[in-house]
Amino acid sequence: MVATILDGKAIAGDIRKELADETQAWKAKRGITPCLAAVLVGDHPASEVYVRSKQRACEQAGLESQLHRLPADCREIDLLELIARLNQDHAVHGILVQLPLPSHLHETKILDAIHPMKDVDAFHAENVGRICQGRPRYLPCTPHGIVQLLHRTGIKVSGKQAVVVGRSDIVGKPMAMMLMNRDSTLGPNCANATVTVCHSRTAGLGDITRQADLLVAAIGKPRFVTADMVKPGAVVIDVGINRVGEQLVGDVDFEAVKEIAGHITPVPGGVGPLTVAMLLYNTLLAAKLQNMSA
Ligand code: GUN
Repeated sequence: MVATILDGKAIAGDIRKELADETQAWKAKRGITPCLAAVLVGDHPASEVYVRSKQRACEQAGLESQLHRLPADCREIDLLELIARLNQDHAVHGILVQLPLPSHLHETKILDAIHPMKDVDAFHAENVGRICQGRPRYLPCTPHGIVQLLHRTGIKVSGKQAVVVGRSDIVGKPMAMMLMNRDSTLGPNCANATVTVCHSRTAGLGDITRQADLLVAAIGKPRFVTADMVKPGAVVIDVGINRVGEQLVGDVDFEAVKEIAGHITPVPGGVGPLTVAMLLYNTLLAAKLQNMSA
């Protein structure tokens, strides 16, 4: 069996179109333009590309975007002061500090300085805690994009065995929580999975991943998930973006695994475009939440 390729780029295009329409309607009603402020510290080449693509997506959907740059050797206080200014600015609804930060900056301290209502990445402890308790405000963009992809493809996760490989704060942990929760923004079919989280020290990894009806690979190692680790017919979601020479490859050995899996996301063109689409979703939601009575 050859897997069905899940076209994340096309689904992200649908979501972006829906959000553009919704943004236009909300702007016409309220006279407010949702605005995302992106903060880029240094000139990390991949971060430059990601931030530019997020800004372009905002503009195409009718949202405003700002870019605030600080030099790689900036003082922590300069970044904290910039965030404090953006927190106070009523014209800014979402704040995104692009990661990774230079190593002299304390990531947790920086992310916790973003006002939770403007935290469109959903990295603040308050927003993470809300997801953990099953009462989310914002959902982190990559896991939310994956849930959207599954929902819009008609793949149910309720009652299924889900295995998440990777325990990062950005993808692995929130993905596991969202799949495990009793309900989701898209209904109970997109939640209620039985979830196992694996990581770099998991013993017998292949024995565990072979149990998975849904396998999410978010470990950051090129072609780490091989065909022998996948249950025939499984849904395989590849979150990895790794540069190997000139090529971008995922965390899954796509060519071999597509012969075993039932569904699989490609890299590029799978999960990546959905992450950007869900950032627009969160920015529009942030503008709405901050203007409930205006
Ligand atoms: N770096 C890699 N992914 C992300 C993301 O989703 N948000 C931010 N802020 N930085 C990232």
